[in-house]
Amino acid sequence: MHLDYQVSRPYIAGQELAYVTDAVKSGWLSSQGPMVQRFEELWAGYNGVAHGVACSSGTTALTLALRALGIGPGDEVIVPEFTMIASAWAVTYTGATPVFVDCGDDLLIDVNQIEDKITPRTKAIMPVHIYGRRCAMEDILKIAYEYNLRVVEDSAEAHGVRPTGDIACFSLFANKIITSGEGGICVTNDPHLAAQMTHLRGMAFSKEHNFIHKKLAYNFRMTNLQAAVATAQAEQIDEILAARKHIEATYDKGLEGIDGITLMPTRDVLWMYDLRAQDRDGLMKFLREGGIETRYFFQPMSRQPMYYSPDWSSLNAAKFAADGLYLPTYVGLTDEDQDRIVARVRAFYS
Ligand SMILES: Cc1ncc(COP(=O)(O)O)c(C=O)c1O
Repeated sequence: MHLDYQVSRPYIAGQELAYVTDAVKSGWLSSQGPMVQRFEELWAGYNGVAHGVACSSGTTALTLALRALGIGPGDEVIVPEFTMIASAWAVTYTGATPVFVDCGDDLLIDVNQIEDKITPRTKAIMPVHIYGRRCAMEDILKIAYEYNLRVVEDSAEAHGVRPTGDIACFSLFANKIITSGEGGICVTNDPHLAAQMTHLRGMAFSKEHNFIHKKLAYNFRMTNLQAAVATAQAEQIDEILAARKHIEATYDKGLEGIDGITLMPTRDVLWMYDLRAQDRDGLMKFLREGGIETRYFFQPMSRQPMYYSPDWSSLNAAKFAADGLYLPTYVGLTDEDQDRIVARVRAFYS
């Protein structure tokens, strides 16, 4: 079926092509090229932190962060119920166990339920800034301090939210606020953690002998070509965030007062415009027939076969999973486009 509006599109309006062309002409295609460091410095600087470690995806960024913190078999990490499964998988990849905490009405980890889930095995908390809403970091950092836990922020959907944890991990997948096609980056103020993540992402070659590897590591490196795109994207971050805020305000205004639609709390940065809808599946079908693509919300982690708990259906996360969806959200969507999308939503309920 023809789609007039996809849920997301990358915004390629800066030096992307010029930087990629330079990279190709220079012969630096692999991760050894100079654009990787340039992107790391640019993104760390933008976030007000000392170090950036670029890698191959948001998932591998989370995995590197947890491994650098020494998390592994026998450990537990607090992860929200309402998230993309990669947050939990990163924990499972290390051999540790994700322990899930339900969300509040803003879809974010419910801080009041974290302490109940802490055990002597707990090593870290992973707040996830869902759809660009910042978690209650001050409260989370306080709990982390009291129980001596580390904090790994999953900032996959929240470029522009200032990092405050030990490490923050961004995804650069094509539907994210800035992209390199596929890619990710960790940022931290701790030089030891940055060195560990760099070591682990690049196969843990050792100083004494290149081919003696003292740790099980990865090839999670970002290529110079991806870094060329990421650098050009990062240069436009302020413009992109401002355009996205405008999209949020336009949807808020257009969708207000529609019987059947519940608007969600404002976002700190807009990744995807989320909302709740009566007869959500009917609305999604009607929008699709009108050439408008949408996506439903994440399912609770406790509903996933590998993390299954029969209690999942009583979670707050399950309530949102049942009637939540998001609308097309990308820079380039005009006010007129949004008016058309809103009119179609209105038509469904009238
Ligand atoms: C909250 C969250 N965490 C992690 C990821 C994983 O990122 P990636 O797809 O780059 O591996 C995503 C997106 O896919 C995400 O939305």
